[in-house]
Amino acid sequence: MNANRQVIMLDEISKLATKQDQWEPYAWYKNMRDNDPVHYNAEQDVWNVFSYDHVKRVLFDHELFSNKKERSLIPTPNQLDNRSNVNLVDPPEHRKRRAILAQAFTPRSLKDWEPRIQEIVDELIMDMEDAPVVDIVQKLAIPLPVTVIADLLGVPSRDRHLIKTWSDILFLPYNLEAYAEIEQQKGVAMKEFAEYLYPIVLEKRKHPVDDIISDLTKAELEGEQLTDEEVVRSAIGLLGAGNETTTTLISNIFYCMLFDQPGVYQELRADLTLVPKLVEEVLRFRFGATIDRKVARDTDIFGPNMKAGQVVVAWIGAANRDESHFARADVFDIHRPGNQQHMTFGAGPHFCLGAPLARLEANMALASFVKRFADIRQTERFVLDEHLTVSATGQSLKSFPIGLSL
Ligand code: HEM
Repeated sequence: MNANRQVIMLDEISKLATKQDQWEPYAWYKNMRDNDPVHYNAEQDVWNVFSYDHVKRVLFDHELFSNKKERSLIPTPNQLDNRSNVNLVDPPEHRKRRAILAQAFTPRSLKDWEPRIQEIVDELIMDMEDAPVVDIVQKLAIPLPVTVIADLLGVPSRDRHLIKTWSDILFLPYNLEAYAEIEQQKGVAMKEFAEYLYPIVLEKRKHPVDDIISDLTKAELEGEQLTDEEVVRSAIGLLGAGNETTTTLISNIFYCMLFDQPGVYQELRADLTLVPKLVEEVLRFRFGATIDRKVARDTDIFGPNMKAGQVVVAWIGAANRDESHFARADVFDIHRPGNQQHMTFGAGPHFCLGAPLARLEANMALASFVKRFADIRQTERFVLDEHLTVSATGQSLKSFPIGLSL
């Protein structure tokens, strides 16, 4: 039990026990925003904030809320001493590390990648054409992000099943019952993933080509090249960070179109310029993200006294539904002005480096899909509970059958 103290378990804070409640935590979020907006969980010694302004403050104020944390929501082993880890570090050091990755993304701007992403989208959509019902998670939401990120990094996309399996395990949240098992699974996944990438990194260092791993082997941090080990770790970080999150986004786009605003599909068919607006509203409306930080020094800026060393969890999904920032926040409305002010990609210095890529993938996938299929519909015997699974972003869809008309 003591080892568990390193890990923060969100379900133990929310006490949302069923999969369905975890999938729809919005009533609990509202209750917390209205009645206990700066909530202290004594069992885990964790503060929790839910309002838009508080969450924003936690994410921007890195002097008060540090990312150099010993306890975390989803710890991955031995990351704090990793010089190339971009996340577990504060400015000004953070800026140098982030520049390496940003640098690695620049040689080909995202524009250059569009034709390849379109090709992957087209192949996946073609593969759906003959079936009246498809599982949109397995057929589109999972394969698209993992194939794209594998291509960008220069890892064979034929190995996408392996990459997907490892990155899902590494981002699995902990729970009390299965703590030891999850810990053990993560250790194995990390070792296998690193062993898989190591020869790829060695080869690219010798013969660099036009991809991100090759760029990382050449990148310098304070006058020194990254070691092979550091390149492997950075590649694992990128292969993991961009996967499950983007899968959740694409799956949720279809869920929102069928359950949160049935009929919106025909609106998109009539006007494709609405596609990015829909994607942005899904990010705001249906994403249970959370971010944690360490309180760097004693403070009472939110009222109660928070002590240095304690953890604060910023409930992004709750901030995105805050009525004081988004009018009629519980209504799914693709025409909402300012819906891109959601914080699903974070905010401040650690704002998601892959946000433009995730947006591009979701927009291209949805636009191509809408052009190809005349309509989508719910399947008759869809029972939500049977399709949910635990993930880094809370409950997410592991499968989602939808009806298609050409
Ligand atoms: C819908 C998809 C995505 C969501 C919701 C998402 C969400 C986030 C969030 C909330 C953060 C901030 C973490 C913090 O403040 O501690 C973040 C950081 C990051 N994301 Fe994403 N992400 C997505 C896609 C991607 C993709 C496709 C990539 C990779 C290419 C990526 C790479 C990163 C990296 C490297 C960071 C760390 C940045 C830093 O600490 O400076 N993400 N992401």
